[in-house]
Amino acid sequence: MSAPAIEVRGLRHRYGELDVLMGVDLEVARGSIVALLGSNGAGKTTLVRILSTLLTADAGSVTVEGHDVATAPMAVRQAISLTGQFAAVDEILTGRENLGLVARLRRHPDPGGVADALLSRFGLAEAASRRVGTYSGGMRRRLDVAMSLIGAPSVVFLDEPTTGLDPEARREVWAAVRALADAGTTVLLTTQTLDEAEHLADRIAILHQGRIIVDGTLAELKALIPAPTVELIEKQPSLEEVFLAVVGARPRKEHP
Ligand SMILES: Nc1ncnc2c1ncn2[C@@H]1O[C@H](COP(=O)(O)OP(=O)(O)OP(=O)(O)O)[C@@H](O)[C@H]1O
Ligand SMILES: [Mg+2]
Repeated sequence: MSAPAIEVRGLRHRYGELDVLMGVDLEVARGSIVALLGSNGAGKTTLVRILSTLLTADAGSVTVEGHDVATAPMAVRQAISLTGQFAAVDEILTGRENLGLVARLRRHPDPGGVADALLSRFGLAEAASRRVGTYSGGMRRRLDVAMSLIGAPSVVFLDEPTTGLDPEARREVWAAVRALADAGTTVLLTTQTLDEAEHLADRIAILHQGRIIVDGTLAELKALIPAPTVELIEKQPSLEEVFLAVVGARPRKEHP
């Protein structure tokens, strides 16, 4: 078995008095999609920021593609891309101009070529010459994800890629993310919605009260709930029921 693309051990982070990550352990296999599931304020963005070298952890270790984020942050940056929780597209520019700008910033040899290739891959070719200010939420998000792929990163972090999108737009983003993983890219995404994790992820990790309290495939998570006994039609537990069962056992800690 090849080494995992992402390996997190005993990771801790606090903001002042607020302990957010209290010993996070996580492995992400190369070419897989892992959904990091957690409520508001669970620390998902904090974890993604540490993994993508934007924030330094207080303790623990992280390697991405074998590079340590603390001692080799530049090597990590070369291997990854990050799509933040809030879209980073420029509304005044067209879709094609946004992509071309990022390609030039990353010193891509053919900015126009890579822009066109990504526009058609994300179903934005027809809107390429329109200002992004006229795009729908789903189109913006797809452009945002497309921008993060310039330079062909091997690991992609997506922080809540579909928050605020309607069901159709979410499915479009899901298809784009699935295509990435099928092409061998490793994807770690955060989400608050259980159906997103259920539809998209190979493995689901639940971050709660500073730790990964559950990590497994959907089938493994569902097995955590006792099977129904006296129902005539067997009902499979939804991920929502699994989540509430594992989280509900631990009373929610109120942050100040
Ligand atoms: N720069 C900061 N300074 C102080 N506290 C912070 C800072 N950033 C985040 N926090 C706090 O740390 C906790 C975790 O925040 P984080 O943004 O990582 O959560 P999240 O899981 O991404 O939440 P959401 O689902 O709302 O995006 C929250 O209580 C938040 O208020
Ligand atoms: Mg967040």
